[in-house]
Amino acid sequence: MTSDTVPAFPMARAAGCPFDPPPELHRLQDEAPLSRVRLWDGSTPWLVTRYAEQRSLLADPRLSADVTRPGYPFPAPGRPTGAQKLGFILMDDPEHARLRRMVTAPFAIKRVEALRPAVQKIVDDLIDDLLAGPKPVDLVEAFALPVPSLVICALLGVPYADHDLFQGHSRNLISRSVPADQRGASFRALHDYLDRLLAQKTADPGDDLLSQLVTRVQAGELERSDAAGIGVLLLVAGHETTANMIALGTLALLEHPDQLALLRDGDDPKLVAGAVEELLRYLNITHTGRRRVALDDIEIAGVTIRAGDGLILANDIGNRDPGTFTDPGTLDLTRDARRHVAFGFGVHQCLGQPLARLELQVVYSTLYRRIPTLRRAAALADIPFKHDGAVYGVYELPVTW
Ligand code: HEM
Repeated sequence: MTSDTVPAFPMARAAGCPFDPPPELHRLQDEAPLSRVRLWDGSTPWLVTRYAEQRSLLADPRLSADVTRPGYPFPAPGRPTGAQKLGFILMDDPEHARLRRMVTAPFAIKRVEALRPAVQKIVDDLIDDLLAGPKPVDLVEAFALPVPSLVICALLGVPYADHDLFQGHSRNLISRSVPADQRGASFRALHDYLDRLLAQKTADPGDDLLSQLVTRVQAGELERSDAAGIGVLLLVAGHETTANMIALGTLALLEHPDQLALLRDGDDPKLVAGAVEELLRYLNITHTGRRRVALDDIEIAGVTIRAGDGLILANDIGNRDPGTFTDPGTLDLTRDARRHVAFGFGVHQCLGQPLARLELQVVYSTLYRRIPTLRRAAALADIPFKHDGAVYGVYELPVTW
């Protein structure tokens, strides 16, 4: 098969099915666990579509997440250079593990659980403002973005007043439709911003994660630029992802009123926790797949991946694998979906997942109970979806009640 005959990596979801992976991905999954796809630059990485092979490969130390290695399947022109370090997400062990360990403590389940009352207050206050304000209103701007932004700002010690600055640059950083030079400029602007905050905290430390990173820098355990890179990663990952789950999750529930009713009319924390897992599985907002490059030859499912081959582990279709989830195309908040790979798998599995779960549990158990008549204020066809972002969701969600 020449590169021209290899099918392009399907990115766009079908019109009318905004919650489902592209139909082409279903076809490729039916055919084989691994196949080749073509990217924008003509390269033909492996596409891994089935759940079992995805988990096995994501746990395999012979795969590298190092974006600077030849063969890494970058989704758009403008691959970051070694100098543009986005924390540790695009690094390999042992350096990845060394840096990740420096920030794991605040994301441990017990520490995060202690934040529940504060997160509940943030959500309640924002809903008070929604109810007191004009309608229709854009739920993204008025609620979905502020919730995780306020939470991650408090945790890191970033002033929320700067939200226009960091939200704008984050949006650029993860968009494929933004030109590469502009993406690079947004990365540098965020890096400089975090670096200035680290300088302020060196002079005047607080009880926050950035101040803890300053202590590491002072102890000679961490380069100052790596501390800023970790800050960028946590700030971007900490608000963009959860914001999209809040808005897209709400839209999905509005389109499935029987499922929404379970959350609105019930009062069972177990159901809410399960609903969060199922919405994560069903929507899988990290829809461009986990990206890796092979360090060694690997035999799997009857094929040989060669050292230097790129891989895309498409977790959105992995979460719809009928071999793992019964009737995977159905949103069923009562199913046990905890095995999903929406947070990835292996050493890079999402560091912030306890925090994301907590925020989503508070939001999904509060919003529809407090605004039981919440509904879309625009036709589904007029809602702009983020087909061009590293994180899927909606740019706007006009709602009323
Ligand atoms: C619903 C919300 C979220 C989703 C769906 C999500 C998804 C993911 C996924 C799929 C990965 C794996 C990346 C890979 O394997 O290449 C990841 C990594 C990561 N996430 Fe999240 N995430 C969410 C929320 C958060 C939050 C709230 C934070 C808080 C700061 C966070 C911080 C991180 C970090 C630091 C990594 C890199 C981990 C590593 O490389 O060791 N995420 N996330």
